Amino acid sequence: MLNNQFEGEILWASATPMIVGRAYQAEINNTIKAQCTITELKYVLASDGETRLAAKTLAAGQRAVVNLQLEPGIEPKCDVTQVALELIDPDDDNASSTCNLHFALRRSSNIRWQAMAIDRAARENLMQQKGKCIWFTGLSGSGKSTIASAFEQHLYRQGMFTMTLDGDNVRHGLNKDLGFTETDRVENIRRVAEVSKLMVEAGLVVLVSFISPFRAERKLARDLFAPGDFIEVFVDTPLEECERRDVKGLYAKARRGEIKNFTGIDSAYEAPLNPEMRLPTVEMKIEDCCLALVEKLNEVPK
Ligand code: ADX
Repeated sequence: MLNNQFEGEILWASATPMIVGRAYQAEINNTIKAQCTITELKYVLASDGETRLAAKTLAAGQRAVVNLQLEPGIEPKCDVTQVALELIDPDDDNASSTCNLHFALRRSSNIRWQAMAIDRAARENLMQQKGKCIWFTGLSGSGKSTIASAFEQHLYRQGMFTMTLDGDNVRHGLNKDLGFTETDRVENIRRVAEVSKLMVEAGLVVLVSFISPFRAERKLARDLFAPGDFIEVFVDTPLEECERRDVKGLYAKARRGEIKNFTGIDSAYEAPLNPEMRLPTVEMKIEDCCLALVEKLNEVPK
């Protein structure tokens, strides 16, 4: 029985605002470490402790009633109102936000994992390949999609079954309700990470080409996969070069103030610290990037 979703009241402590959909490090009863995602910010409590305010994020010192989800397999065994839950922010001196749980959400206790007769191994066996997620991250115009497309053509010629998930394209359908605020980008990446996981379960080599600007969500994506199944590729093109190329004319618009929250201009890009691969496109031609990717794919354990 899954019972890992709760309503609770949180007092936010970190200097970095709380974002719905982001996975935080949690400590339960001062011992168990787990990931905890705020799935809904229901309302913020005003300083009188009663008035309910609508909000999208939560700043330090604010209280709010939220729905949250602990990672699968973590289910407090005792009365939930007795659980001591802290969300820790390692980037802000381990600031610890306290959450008092109110009750378990019924939706979580009515869902069980359904085992299927045909599993990933069976599908992979039929296709004679291993499912993998190759995750391209980098600024807009860095060359992610161009490289992913060239690489996919290469894999196709080798007779491999592939799928490319491209930010611009997925935003036309599944994610068309999302914009470019931090909250929406977090949800954008959460959804595409889950979709890519399903596709890897289907046995495909999935190429994901999203800016995916935040480390926390790239980690969230990585953590969905077994080691070796997720290959993070940093398409490392400096902002000046992306802006010089400006293939879609978006940098010029952003500089004129016609687009808000543009990555690299007025919205952050957090470069990967330990990607499996870095492709410095100023020095490497597309063909060389493809060759390097082929080598990397051959290197990872099958
Ligand atoms: S992400 O940051 O949420 O990962 P995603 O890869 O889906 O972004 O979409 C990025 C594409 O959307 C860019 O390549 C660009 O064409 C377009 N775009 C439109 N507005 C913005 C913006 N404010 N910031 C970045 N890209 C934008």
